[in-house]
Amino acid sequence: MAVELSKESREQIEQLIERYPTRRAVMLPALHIVTKEFELIDDDVCQAVADALHLPMVDVKGVATFYDMFPTEPRGKHQLLVCINLPCALNGARRVLRYLEGKLGIKAGETTPDGRCTLKGLECLAACDRAPMMYVNEDLHGELTEDKLDQLLGELT
Ligand code: FES
Repeated sequence: MAVELSKESREQIEQLIERYPTRRAVMLPALHIVTKEFELIDDDVCQAVADALHLPMVDVKGVATFYDMFPTEPRGKHQLLVCINLPCALNGARRVLRYLEGKLGIKAGETTPDGRCTLKGLECLAACDRAPMMYVNEDLHGELTEDKLDQLLGELT
């Protein structure tokens, strides 16, 4: 079913089009804008972004599905995204992931049956000096220990 972007999203995207050298360069920030408006960046939302940018939908979908931060599949209320790149791996990322899998009763890449949490491993979060790192929703957390993970899980509503 076709979706329409809100007036605010359309205006923000229009402003970006004026600032960026090409419409293609606006795809990434435009997807960030619509992620605040839609829970799921599905084909219909990609089409709406493509229409706003006058680009092929497949190009927008390609960008949306390439990056982990865009919800192109249903996900839980909370996102637990653990960095599994080398610096974090050397500092215990696998241990962090296994600990969270045990606590949540799911494997990486899955969502808890109640839809509360989605757990994923992903690429470098550009904060390697605080490895091991993870995002809890939009907040970065580092130097993760089991105590810190318990605290973070306890803060989720
Ligand atoms: S490798 Fe984990 S933040 Fe860079």
